Amino acid sequence: MSMNRVLLSAHVADAAATSCTRAFPDAASFRDPRVGRAVDSNATDGHAIDWKKVREMFPLAPDMTYLNSGSEGSMPHELLDSYARFNREWATDPSYSFFASPRFGETQALNRQAAARFVGAIEEDVCLTNNTTMGLAMVAFGLPLRAGDEVLTTTNEHWSLLSPLTVLAKQRGIRVIQLPVAVPFADPDALVEAFEAAITPRTRVIAFSHITWTTGARFPVRALCDLARDRGVISLVDGAHALGMLDLDLPALHCDFYACSGHKWLNGPPGTGLLYVNDAAANAAKLLPILSDEAVQSAPGTLITDLLQTRGCNNGPGLTAMIDAMAFADTIGRAAIEAREIELAEHAKRRVIETWGAAALFSPAPGRPDLSSGLTSFLPSADPARARDQAFVQNVVSALWDRYRIYVRTTLFPAYPADDGATLYAIRASTSLFNDAEQVDALVRCAAEIAKE
Ligand SMILES: Cc1ncc(COP(=O)(O)O)c(C=O)c1O
Repeated sequence: MSMNRVLLSAHVADAAATSCTRAFPDAASFRDPRVGRAVDSNATDGHAIDWKKVREMFPLAPDMTYLNSGSEGSMPHELLDSYARFNREWATDPSYSFFASPRFGETQALNRQAAARFVGAIEEDVCLTNNTTMGLAMVAFGLPLRAGDEVLTTTNEHWSLLSPLTVLAKQRGIRVIQLPVAVPFADPDALVEAFEAAITPRTRVIAFSHITWTTGARFPVRALCDLARDRGVISLVDGAHALGMLDLDLPALHCDFYACSGHKWLNGPPGTGLLYVNDAAANAAKLLPILSDEAVQSAPGTLITDLLQTRGCNNGPGLTAMIDAMAFADTIGRAAIEAREIELAEHAKRRVIETWGAAALFSPAPGRPDLSSGLTSFLPSADPARARDQAFVQNVVSALWDRYRIYVRTTLFPAYPADDGATLYAIRASTSLFNDAEQVDALVRCAAEIAKE
């Protein structure tokens, strides 16, 4: 298959190219041909991609091993170039930045179209945001929740979801119920059953991660959202880790709201993301526009996504460059990226088990890619009690960086099923498309050396 085909096969690429060409007159060449040249021509069937060459597309410092895309990705060289170009054009003619300017409106509309296509949605159902935190807060605070209403969530959620829910509990008297998640996560049916059993006539929302930040467990989104639909409950999904890692088709997940980030696994600019609202036209009444400068002057019936999209001056260059990040992912192949990131995580899991035993692995066991992601959480010790020792885990993480320039982070979660209220600590490694098995081996080897001391 020719590289031309690889380049054109990306369904977002055309929209992205159109977007940039029309909005930024000299940006027609934003899709640097290096992308095509660096990838083996078999890329589209998901095999034989030269991942070393993919790695070379990123400016990551050669003396560091970066394993934390779950917090922040890295922009490839070509994206840095196009982002810089968009910024320069914006600065050269600042009328772009005025949100009422026709050119800004046109750029934004094209960006929304391209972003929507990337997740299988229509433009009306997508609003470009700054990050997952913003999308989750827009929904949580925008829902008409009242005292006594119940929100079901889990004990493995990120603060970006728990914070707005906690504010709502304090301010409006909603009840937030956190269902325990077994670690390692192994039984998706049990999680669905736990949600089902917890639904009461007061339940208004179920809110949960697609992929947990704690252990990288992939929750059964479709089954949970179908349950919510059946029971007349709203579903809100924290998809921070899914965009760019998984080959996403958001409408197929049957969720009402899905918030995600462009700056993690997608490797887009910092402070970019998107919020998906299922059937925004029909579901407008479910959500109030809590962050908008259009709400007072717009015609009745204006789409909620349009209202939320219009919120003062936005980072136009960054959001335009996020579309380039989508085109970049499509050029390599989304299925290939997903397979690569999960295979690296599988490798990490096997190495952890070989080194410290099965109990040291907190992420779903190897051999269950359906439950897994590019995040691997583990204890660098064969002694399970050390998971309760925050200082031990933090020291290993710090020494990995200080001595070996290996960058990972700590994570924490409740010890369940152990019912003593303890918190467990672990190392979390993110394996992205620019990482490789040798880096994973080095992580495990060096962590084992440090932990022995
Ligand atoms: C599960 C989860 N949700 C939300 C966030 C916040 O993401 P963002 O920085 O894009 O707001 C994170 C960040 O690491 C996360 O892991």
